[in-house]
Amino acid sequence: MVTGLALIFASGLLMMLAELHSFATSVVFWTKMGLIALLLGNGYIRMRAENALRQDRAAGWGRFRRTSVASLVLWLVILLFGTLLHSTT
Ligand code: HEM
Repeated sequence: MVTGLALIFASGLLMMLAELHSFATSVVFWTKMGLIALLLGNGYIRMRAENALRQDRAAGWGRFRRTSVASLVLWLVILLFGTLLHSTT
């Protein structure tokens, strides 16, 4: 999963550098970057919930469920913003 994300980041950065002037002022681009920051933060909280569950702390289930749903939704929205970016810049 981390390798996959790293590859997407690398290709995203290359695409960004190719047309820096148009992306720097694009609202869609910066919204997408904000969503990616949320995805990373959510991933960190989800990882901590996973660790809590491994130590048999049942309180981790609620957080695990919420962060899993949030992760799925964020992925789909980021995907949508990626395609929007392509058609708006
Ligand atoms: C740091 C992370 C990322 C950066 C800097 C980035 C940057 C970009 C840029 C600049 C484009 C526009 C390419 C163009 O139209 O010329 C793009 C397209 C796209 N991105 Fe990202 N991206 C990142 C992460 C992601 C992630 C995590 C996803 C998936 C969830 C994603 C999905 C897409 C999609 C589907 C497109 C449209 C491709 C196309 O139709 O040509 N990106 N990205």
